Amino acid sequence: MKPKTIIEPFKIKSVEPIRFTTREEREKFLKDAGYNAFLLHADDVLIDLLTDSGTSAMSAKQWAGIMDGDESYAGSKSFYRFESVVRNITGMKFIIPTHQGRAAEKILFTLVGGAGKYIPNNSHFDTTRANVEFSGAEAVDLLNEVGKHPEIRADFKGNMDIEKLEAFIKEKGVENIPLCMITVTNNSGGGQPVSMQNIRETKEVCKKYNIPLFLDACRFAENAYFIKLREKGYENKTPLEIAQEMFSYADGATMSAKKDALVNIGGFLALNDEQLAMNSRNLLIVTEGFPTYGGLAGRDLEAVAQGLLEIVDESYLQYRIRSVAYLGEKLVAAGVPIIEPPGGHAIYIDAKRFLPDIPAEQFPGQSIVAELYLEGGIRAVEIGSVMFGKYDKNGKFIPSMMELVRLAVPRRVYTQSHIDYLIEVIVEVYKNRNKLKGYKITYEAPMLRHFTARFEPIN
Ligand code: F0G
Repeated sequence: MKPKTIIEPFKIKSVEPIRFTTREEREKFLKDAGYNAFLLHADDVLIDLLTDSGTSAMSAKQWAGIMDGDESYAGSKSFYRFESVVRNITGMKFIIPTHQGRAAEKILFTLVGGAGKYIPNNSHFDTTRANVEFSGAEAVDLLNEVGKHPEIRADFKGNMDIEKLEAFIKEKGVENIPLCMITVTNNSGGGQPVSMQNIRETKEVCKKYNIPLFLDACRFAENAYFIKLREKGYENKTPLEIAQEMFSYADGATMSAKKDALVNIGGFLALNDEQLAMNSRNLLIVTEGFPTYGGLAGRDLEAVAQGLLEIVDESYLQYRIRSVAYLGEKLVAAGVPIIEPPGGHAIYIDAKRFLPDIPAEQFPGQSIVAELYLEGGIRAVEIGSVMFGKYDKNGKFIPSMMELVRLAVPRRVYTQSHIDYLIEVIVEVYKNRNKLKGYKITYEAPMLRHFTARFEPIN
C-alpha cells in the first residue's frame, strides 16, 4: 500500500514542557510588553510561531556533533567538515562561517555597498535591507507582479521580475549595481518559492551586464523541494541535486543556518571571487573571528554540517512542506484570508482582508498578533506597516505594500495536535474579528523598529 498519511519522519527523544496561562495573565503580560510580541517572555507563550529561525529541534546526530566539535582556534576539523558539506551543496570556492545570516550580510554589504549603489532583490528581508541601507546603498525589491497579490494562487510567487530587473540595470547603470540578489524562498512575500527557470533567467540578465548574482539561501532546501513538486523536468531529481543546480547559477550566497541547517545559531558567506573572499575574511577577523570559526564554536560548525545533510532528506521535506500546507488549507476552508498557496516555512494571514476596517496606519496585523496571544497564547509576528512602514520627508506615513501576520513553523518542533489547536484558535479569532481594535505606536527606534516598538490599543 502507498499510505496517504504523511507522518513526522522522526520520533521524539527529548521533550520540553510548554506553559499554560489564563487569558487574564496574558492580558497583563501583553500590556507589560507594550503590546509587542517581541517583548513577551517566551515562557509566557504556549505555541511560539514568532520565527522559524534558530528554533529547530536538533537531531541526535547533531547533538552528538556538539560533543564531537573540535574547539581548536585555527584549523579545527569541524571547520573542514562544515566547509566540505557547504561546498558540496553550493559549489562555491570560498566558505566563510559567520555567527548568523546578518553577519554575512554585514560583511558583504560593507564591502560592496555604499552611497549611490543599488541592490536589487526579489524581496529583501528586514536584516538584508537594513544592512544594505546601513552601508548607504539602496535596497530595491523587484518582485514579480503575481507575488504581490495574496489571493492569487501561483506556483512561483517568489520570482524576480526579469523585465523590471533589466530596465532597472539600464536606468541606474551597471557601475552602480555591485550585485543582484534572489531570496529563496521569499520570506517577506509569503515564503513563496522561486523557480529554477527564474533563477536561470535572472542569471542570464546579470551575466549580460557582468553583475554577480547572489542567493540569500536561508531556505534553499524548501525552495528546492517546491521546484521538485512544481517545475517540469525536476520530478525525478533529488532535493540536493536541485539545490546544487540553484547554486550553480550564483556567484555567491549568504545563509542563515538558523533556518535550513536546522541549528540554533550559525551562518555563512559563500563566494567564488577570490579578492572578495580575501577582503571578507579580513573583515571577518575584525568582527567575527578567525576564518576557520567565524563567530561560532567548533561544535556549532559540526551541528550545521550535520543539519545540512538532514535538510535535503526527501521524507523530511515532504513532511515539512505538507505540514505547513495542512495548516494553510484548514484556515482557507474556514474562510481565513491567507497568502495562497501556503509558503514553505510559514502561513501568512492577509490582515488587509481579515480586518478591512482597520487602516494601515492603525496596524491591522499588530491587532491580529495581539489577539492570537490573548485568545490562545500563540505568538506570531506582524510583517506589514509596523515592520516596513515609513515616513516621508514631511512625516507622512507610507504603508507597507502588504499587511501580513506570519505564523512561522519551527522545524521538527510541533506535532499535528499543536497545529490543530492553532487552527482552532485562529478560526475563533477570525469569527470575532469585528471586536478587534487598531493600535498606535507610543515608542519606536529609528531602525528595525518592530523589535522594540511599544503600542497602545486605540479605543
Ligand atoms: N535573510 C532572510 C530571508 C531571512 O529570513 C533572515 C532571517 C535573514 C536573512 C537573516 O538571518 O537572522 O540569521 O541573521 N529571518 C528570521 C525570520 C529572523 O524570522 O524570518 P539571521
